[in-house]
Amino acid sequence: MLVSEINENAGYIKHDLTNMLKFRDKKSITDLDLRNKRVLLRVDFNVPMDEYGNITDARRIRYTLPTIHYLLNENCRIMLISHLGRPKGEVDEAMRIVNVYKRLQEYCPFSNIYLADDCIGSDVEKMAMKLKPREILLLENPRFHPEEKENDEEFSKKLAELADVYVTDAFATAHRKHASTYGVCKHLEEKGYGFLLEKEMKFLSNCITKPKRPLTVVLGGKKVEDKLDVIKYLIGVVDNILIGGGMAFTFLLAKGYAIGKSIRDLSKLDDVRQYMKKADESCTNIYLPRDVIVCDELDYPTKIEQVPITEIRENHVGVDIGEETITAFKNILSESKQVIWQGPLGVFEKEEFERGTKEIATHLIENHIYTIIGGGDSAASFEKFGFQDEVSFISTGGGASLEVMKGTFLPAIECLSDK
Ligand code: 3PG
Repeated sequence: MLVSEINENAGYIKHDLTNMLKFRDKKSITDLDLRNKRVLLRVDFNVPMDEYGNITDARRIRYTLPTIHYLLNENCRIMLISHLGRPKGEVDEAMRIVNVYKRLQEYCPFSNIYLADDCIGSDVEKMAMKLKPREILLLENPRFHPEEKENDEEFSKKLAELADVYVTDAFATAHRKHASTYGVCKHLEEKGYGFLLEKEMKFLSNCITKPKRPLTVVLGGKKVEDKLDVIKYLIGVVDNILIGGGMAFTFLLAKGYAIGKSIRDLSKLDDVRQYMKKADESCTNIYLPRDVIVCDELDYPTKIEQVPITEIRENHVGVDIGEETITAFKNILSESKQVIWQGPLGVFEKEEFERGTKEIATHLIENHIYTIIGGGDSAASFEKFGFQDEVSFISTGGGASLEVMKGTFLPAIECLSDK
């Protein structure tokens, strides 16, 4: 068993890394008999959009094209299904799949693509029955039905009835046990994963189970809770954890520093103290910022300054890592053979606060350091800087890749057919 021994020695957590490799026991798209079949293809087209509904980053659509083309070449009829956003179990006009449909038409100009106005029901069944080989039917957002998130048996069965075979390429949603990602599998004989999911799993699992050391994980961003949770699984597995972004302030607070009005998660202070203690007992080094960029007001700052972490004042909001921290992080990264980066190191969306994230990204690229980027915000930062094609791999999954790093056997993979 591939178990993190250092963690065991530290008496901390038994981290079973074999779960990361179990996907290899499941059928991939190339193991399935797909010729002339009706295929229900679960994708994650949960793409970011601006206030006018324009898609601002279409990678999640583009990256599934190899799987779609493979199915078209197999003469399949494809029923595509994806959630979009978090509607509350009812129709939400802003979360209709129509803009994704338009983009998909641009990407697949040689196929007839139809748009259904629901994902189950008699009209959808009729449209699915009329579909010819090499045609695609894009189903409406399944989260318009509360049964999707409840993983309802009847709802799953209705989805399954549309097809002979199930394929999932929805890596970014593979940690969700929903009807279209999990329940549906019970009602179909043959089910496997597509090329995107395979690529995602290979990159991440290779990096963690067969790391080229030193392996460094960079954690940032404002979603503190999920990432804090993953740290306990990384202690004893990775060599360095660099903490920046919104996450850093909970750590600084736990160490007794004042953090002004910066983002924090008070419920996690004890956990954070424990992580730092356990890291001291293991081979993993946790590095925090030494200095930070602070401002008086995030939306309309009138005063921006760089301060050492000992001098963060009551009215300060921390927005980026400072110069000394950038240099220290660069030095550790220069020594690293592999890097996994989840979450930006500052409020990169604003030009005034993008420096830390941009300099570290530039450093990784210029020094050809093998880097996997995870999470929507980090991916968006690379897009913003125009670096998206220069980094080793940008994962489409945020929460899903964190779950993989924790050693969870993702439910949407677990339910697929065994080889
Ligand atoms: C994501 O964007 O992380 C996935 O699409 C999953 O979305 P969810 O967190 O709303 O389930």
